[in-house]
Amino acid sequence: MNVESAYLNCLAFFGVGGAHPGGMQLTKSILSREKIVGTTKILDVGCGTGQTAAYISKKYGCHVTAFDCHTVMIEKAKKRFRSLQLPVVTCYGIAENLPFEDGSFDMILSESVTAFTDVSQSIPEFKRVLKPNGILLAIEMTLENSVTEAELAQILHCYGVKQLLNEAGWRAHFQKAGFKQVLSENFKLHPDAQNMCHALDFSLSKNIDPSYFHILHQHQCLSMMYKDILGCRIFRCQ
Ligand SMILES: C[S@@+](CC[C@H](N)C(=O)[O-])C[C@H]1O[C@@H](n2cnc3c(N)ncnc32)[C@H](O)[C@@H]1O
Repeated sequence: MNVESAYLNCLAFFGVGGAHPGGMQLTKSILSREKIVGTTKILDVGCGTGQTAAYISKKYGCHVTAFDCHTVMIEKAKKRFRSLQLPVVTCYGIAENLPFEDGSFDMILSESVTAFTDVSQSIPEFKRVLKPNGILLAIEMTLENSVTEAELAQILHCYGVKQLLNEAGWRAHFQKAGFKQVLSENFKLHPDAQNMCHALDFSLSKNIDPSYFHILHQHQCLSMMYKDILGCRIFRCQ
């Protein structure tokens, strides 16, 4: 797939692992609250370079499928699983049309992914491929304060997202897709948390176009500028 978001291309070329608010620390914490055993089937949708999928496979020894629409991301994830000799299944496609049978997974993780998709299609797809009592864990960008039209346009453009939802908006989409229980937690970002220079896991592509350094810089500036508007929520839907 040709990814239109310059921001996502930037993450792919720099190969930023844990490219979601809270990083691996938050991932480990939310997973530690769940019952995961050897037979659990987990889909890491929008797996990026595969840091979380590798962690789950290693720690829990369960079935992990790592899925993404970006060929560079999937290649970097594959390389990681190969070098760690982990039996993670990789799969390429879009969240809006998942190539899996109904009821395939016990759990889906979406770490800063669903916000980039067309939620009216992707969230029903998550529900479809989950087993009847399956759990969706989503860490997603959330609108926490009102914005002007111009600010909204700038944010949508910078991230290449199709919509920017507040807590009620997310909840409505999850419920409409059939999730009966939707729990949401506000995750307070450290002011410096969006600064990717602090990420510990990089897998750089060769010959990155200099324009991507500019995009990275623009992202850092915007996330500081909108730090009171853009928040992050952890949703647990069942
Ligand atoms: C911000 S990154 C997060 C990557 C990873 N979850 C992490 O935390 O490091 C968003 C990821 O979602 C993927 N993505 C965006 N839109 C997608 C879609 N419609 N279908 C599948 N993957 C998508 C991107 O390619 C990218 O790898």
